[in-house]
Amino acid sequence: MLDDRASKAPGGDVLVVDDAAANRFLYSAILEDDGHRVREAADGPTGLALIAAAAPPIELVLLDVSMPGMDGIEVLRRIRARADGGPAVLILTSAARTPDAIERGLELGADAYLIRPVDNRELAARVRAALQIHRLRKELAALRRDQTAMLVHDLRHPLANLSMLAEVIESDDLRPDDRVNAAGTIRRMVDDLGRLVDSILTASRLEAGVFTVDPRPVALAALIAPSIDVFRALALRRRVTLDVGALPAVIVVADAARLRQVIDNLLSNALKFTPRGGRVRVGAQLDGGVVRVRVDDTGSGVPEAERAVIFDRYRQGATGRTKGGTGLGLAIAAGLVAANGGEIRCEDSPLGGACFSFTLARA
Ligand SMILES: Nc1ncnc2c1ncn2[C@@H]1O[C@H](COP(=O)(O)OP(=O)(O)OP(=O)(O)O)[C@@H](O)[C@H]1O
Ligand SMILES: [Mg+2]
Repeated sequence: MLDDRASKAPGGDVLVVDDAAANRFLYSAILEDDGHRVREAADGPTGLALIAAAAPPIELVLLDVSMPGMDGIEVLRRIRARADGGPAVLILTSAARTPDAIERGLELGADAYLIRPVDNRELAARVRAALQIHRLRKELAALRRDQTAMLVHDLRHPLANLSMLAEVIESDDLRPDDRVNAAGTIRRMVDDLGRLVDSILTASRLEAGVFTVDPRPVALAALIAPSIDVFRALALRRRVTLDVGALPAVIVVADAARLRQVIDNLLSNALKFTPRGGRVRVGAQLDGGVVRVRVDDTGSGVPEAERAVIFDRYRQGATGRTKGGTGLGLAIAAGLVAANGGEIRCEDSPLGGACFSFTLARA
């Protein structure tokens, strides 16, 4: 049966293109009854004109195949030639013409076909489902565009700065000290850019599922210690206390190098979102058959509404956007934890800020 969400989706803007007035009347009645706003056209050219001009735009077309003049297949071809890909299209065909129309229709990008005579409930259900898919597809396309725009911005900004620094180095009246400083800045920026490119690669490989992990038995404390060593210096500079609770003396099964990246990302966030004078605590506890590692902080915390999205690539919370970054850290952490067979989540911390935790299998 139909997806629940499809049946609850709000009505859409639908166009019925059919040369028979009786059919238009029938389909309009069924679809209006199901909550859609319906327009009608008696021939292909009128339908195409409506699609081009309608505001709000037509989201779905119910298209008769056999019409005098321009037939439904030609209308479909012209709809798909639109730069925006056009609305979803359901083609209506008679039993006699079925195989031919279906084949050509699907080749030209029809979303579904319906064979006359159409059952009322089936018509309503198919329209709802096709509308839902059409909307999701549009959302996805918009998301992709956004992500690319952000990525280009993130890469462009340091590139512009690098180019400026190169000019500084080229200028004749530069003191040797300044030259060395500029070179140091360039090196740091190139390192940052390299890390960004690595993150983008890791995130897309995780998303594509072409990421391999090599889980082996390792002591929990040995897994956590190297990250703590690195972040201690950063915490000190930020005047944030970083402490590690008593860790259960267990062996876990994990790809240590990958897991290190998870802990690093969580610690980097905790330190980024915790103001001076605050505290970050790393701990772990046995949780059924697994070990749960957690990073608590006294920072801003994550609002309930943002918890579902921050693990997606390039998604940041309201506070996150004010602090720079790309929104890849948690997506990578979540992907790496999943690849190791664990699960990651975000909660309120008893310390007052956020608590991010993930599970590891015991050996
Ligand atoms: N410890 C935390 N406290 C409060 N908010 C957090 C914390 N960790 C993550 N967030 C929120 O989740 C968002 C996503 O985190 P993520 O690590 O994916 O991206 P980022 O840190 O903004 O950028 P990047 O990690 O790519 O440099 C953040 O922008 C922030 O809004
Ligand atoms: Mg981060």
